[in-house]
Amino acid sequence: MSVWDDARLRLDGLPDGRGLNIAHEAVDRHVIRGHGDRLALRFLRRDGSVGDLSYRDLGRDSSRFANGLDALGICPGDVVATLLERVPELYVTAFGTLKARAVLCTLYAAFGPEPVRVRLAKGRVKVLVTTAAQYARKVEPVRRELPDLTSVIIIDGDPPPGTAGWQQLMSAASDRWSIPATSEDDPALIHFTSGTTGTPKAALHVHQAVVAHEATAVAVLALGPGDVFWCTADPGWVTGVSYGIVAPLVCGATGIVDEAGFEPERWYRILAEQRVSVWYTAPTAIRMLIKAGDTLPRRHDLRALRVAASVGEPLDAGAVLWGREALGQPFHDTWWQTETGAIMIANRPGEPIRPGAMGRPLAGVEAAVVTRHQDGEAVRIEPTEGSGELALRAGWPSMFRGYLGDDARYRAAFAGGFYLTGDLVRRDGDGWFWFVGRADDVIKSAGRLIGPIEVESVLLQHPAVAEAGVIGLPDPTVGEMLKAFVTLKDGIAGDAALGRDILAHARRRLGPATAPREVVFRPALPKTRSGKIMRRLLKARELGLPEGDLSTLEDEPAASSAPPEAKASS
Ligand code: WT7
Repeated sequence: MSVWDDARLRLDGLPDGRGLNIAHEAVDRHVIRGHGDRLALRFLRRDGSVGDLSYRDLGRDSSRFANGLDALGICPGDVVATLLERVPELYVTAFGTLKARAVLCTLYAAFGPEPVRVRLAKGRVKVLVTTAAQYARKVEPVRRELPDLTSVIIIDGDPPPGTAGWQQLMSAASDRWSIPATSEDDPALIHFTSGTTGTPKAALHVHQAVVAHEATAVAVLALGPGDVFWCTADPGWVTGVSYGIVAPLVCGATGIVDEAGFEPERWYRILAEQRVSVWYTAPTAIRMLIKAGDTLPRRHDLRALRVAASVGEPLDAGAVLWGREALGQPFHDTWWQTETGAIMIANRPGEPIRPGAMGRPLAGVEAAVVTRHQDGEAVRIEPTEGSGELALRAGWPSMFRGYLGDDARYRAAFAGGFYLTGDLVRRDGDGWFWFVGRADDVIKSAGRLIGPIEVESVLLQHPAVAEAGVIGLPDPTVGEMLKAFVTLKDGIAGDAALGRDILAHARRRLGPATAPREVVFRPALPKTRSGKIMRRLLKARELGLPEGDLSTLEDEPAASSAPPEAKASS
């Protein structure tokens, strides 16, 4: 039996057979079953204080928000976005939106104005919930370019002109709301992700995804009522929604939300004081904990910890075993993507771990290793021995159902009944999958997927820059670090000051998480005959690796004297 079938038996469905809605499974059904007093979410504030929301609180507040959306004229299918840090209003918005059958899109709060504008436009966002400061810096200046954005709700302070206040909206609304009939295929969530070409992709998920959230939380994280679960991912990314918001609550557990950022001492204190029993985190954080040394974990009582798991980047064998030594639990590596919506391949608790491997496909997931052939427009796949692209048989419950406004791109992601992941993997003789690399030019930095084009297009907005190519270079902590190669406009000479100015420009527009850390000037960039910058070649040259197939390379001008480089200070 697949893990999906198991999960379906444990889910309730809306009363009177009115379908399946994520918010009902995560919140309301627990209240109906008499568990309203149970702690749903515990917020650990920066100042050390704690804020608790019971399942009943969350049920009522999210019903109020659903009524508020209704009063704003929001209809099923309309998109509601958040641009918020990890505050209670984000979680209330999430479930209120789903209760209203609107579509939730959480935007990463550390994004600069450019990624925010692009996503609000592409997602055709109608309602945005944010803070006064975020609004003033990132949204108000471009509001006229966002015709779909009809309502902005400000959670703090006096709402500026053209916006509404959270308090007013909530206090005017009833806390009773009956979720309208919801089909499993109704849109529920949008997650932005990055590809090699074009603008970011808006992956659409439906209410049926909750089957996979529940199934994987049980099968891979062993979550259940009574567990204290801490997912360290930011809710602005898919992990922070699937496992930071939905999964723990569907399972009736308590979710810990840390409003502050990473800090080793604080993190160990949270694990110990909150008696975290299941912990889902990421390799960059694990590497930083390893760096911080083994005395810190020894000073904390971590005996409540039952399962530790990791996602987002390759987790090396050493880190898996460090967990066993230092925390008393090995890390279970898990693999999935924005498009898969939930864990697909994992080292499962209770089974022997294979350190360094991503794991094995869950029961109900059919994973294949294939080679892609491009026959004109059409893509054909062929099973391959050794390493190849990871492909998944289409049809699992949390499979994305489209890229908003990009039908062709969606279709191109499938071939022969399989979804093509863009990851290169190897399957060993026992059926374990090992990560090999990406098949394309996207970059993984601190667990975040970054599309080079989005960064390059911001670099091109700098008045001195003529062309830009961005690559990821290996970094011992964050996995990959962004490095930019640029050519300058005629007559402009590159020096360190200009380099710093370009990096500062990129940081301002993109935000710290997606801005390059280094820039170097080049007289020319390697390009294909059709004019595309060959990032693969930039990277191979930077790392001293074989240059590979150069048949499409355009003739390059002779190299001039050594180009100046600039590094960002942080
Ligand atoms: C990409 C997806 C997974 C949800 C959060 C990120 C890489 C993911 C692993 C792993 C090696 C991994 C892949 C994948 N990735 N998990 N266990 N080992 N690489 O979702 O931002 O869509 O990123 O993250 O390259 O395609 P995402």
